[in-house]
Amino acid sequence: MTRPQRVGICTGGGDAPGLNAVIRGFVKAGRRAHGLEIFGIADGLGGLIGPTPHIEPLDFAQVRGLLPMGGTILGTTNRGNPFRYPVRDPQTGVVTEQDIADEIVSNARRFGLDGVVMVGGDGTMEIGRRLMARGLPVFGVPKTIDNDLSATEATFGFDTAVGVATEALDRLHTTAASHDRVMLLEVMGRHAGFIALQAGIAGGADFIVLPEVPYDVNALLEAIGRRRLGGSHFAVGVVAEGALPRGGAQSVLAVQTAGANPRLMGAAYRLEQALLDAGCPLEVRTTVLGHTQRGGTPSPFDRVLATRYGVEAATCVADGQWGRMVRLRAGLIETVTLEEALATHRVDPDGQVVRHAEALGISFGR
Ligand code: F6P
Repeated sequence: MTRPQRVGICTGGGDAPGLNAVIRGFVKAGRRAHGLEIFGIADGLGGLIGPTPHIEPLDFAQVRGLLPMGGTILGTTNRGNPFRYPVRDPQTGVVTEQDIADEIVSNARRFGLDGVVMVGGDGTMEIGRRLMARGLPVFGVPKTIDNDLSATEATFGFDTAVGVATEALDRLHTTAASHDRVMLLEVMGRHAGFIALQAGIAGGADFIVLPEVPYDVNALLEAIGRRRLGGSHFAVGVVAEGALPRGGAQSVLAVQTAGANPRLMGAAYRLEQALLDAGCPLEVRTTVLGHTQRGGTPSPFDRVLATRYGVEAATCVADGQWGRMVRLRAGLIETVTLEEALATHRVDPDGQVVRHAEALGISFGR
């Protein structure tokens, strides 16, 4: 008799509401339907680094009550790329990026893992693809609140993030109206404006500033002026964190951490100042929504999507379909290769959603 498959699961990159639902779906279906032995790997692939692997068996008891829980019980990191791993020299204290992928592959083998399910965004899928090439079977599950993976119609976490941003816009509307102010709401999304676009429409924003449409501050000022002529003495605008002025660059934190992506920061505050400098007749206030978009309970849509991804991942892994990633297409969960999984996309500035928003009078500052 062949032994049951031993499979690891880890969560990589920034967290997203629904990660725990994936883990639960994978463990429940993996145990019930396929008899998989499943191990949770701590902190991205961090649990497979070092002399004592940090991995724990996952069974029904460990996933009980996980469905509504935000975050990830496994922990995660966006500084865990094993091909660019930050290592501190004990003598000099200098941190350099090193390739420690072989250590992960050999620790996975030492622990008898037949492969690893990696839940993450494009960065995690790229790591997975490269680990496959080093000999570790990997299966991908797409996650990101940014919704920027083009292989799938939806990543879980996005719907929740849009919900949080929409609620913030609703709240900003009432205080904006009370004080006759321009309220700016900065939302996440990195280089893609999907959260800003969807929340802006859902929350009735007057303008939406996207990374895909470099803005002209005078065009935004005109939009505020048009509202005043129409009798509305306030305005609410959504600013994607990756927004940039026409002819300018994204607003990035100057200091960079080894092994990490550059941090976007300050887009909305910069726009606040630009509006005032350009003569905005109203007071401007900025709210940066930040990580509230990623924390807390997943929406029902994200719970269902994440659960279905987890269940399908268990079926695929039990079938030996390594090197692939689940995706949503036309209501069905299918798979694509990890190579296909890497592709990202951004908001189409001339696409139907933007055109519909413009038809409502929403300005994109162009
Ligand atoms: O990719 C998800 C995301 O939340 C982006 O929208 C955001 O730019 C980034 O991660 C923030 O990362 P961190 O958690 O490192 O601040």
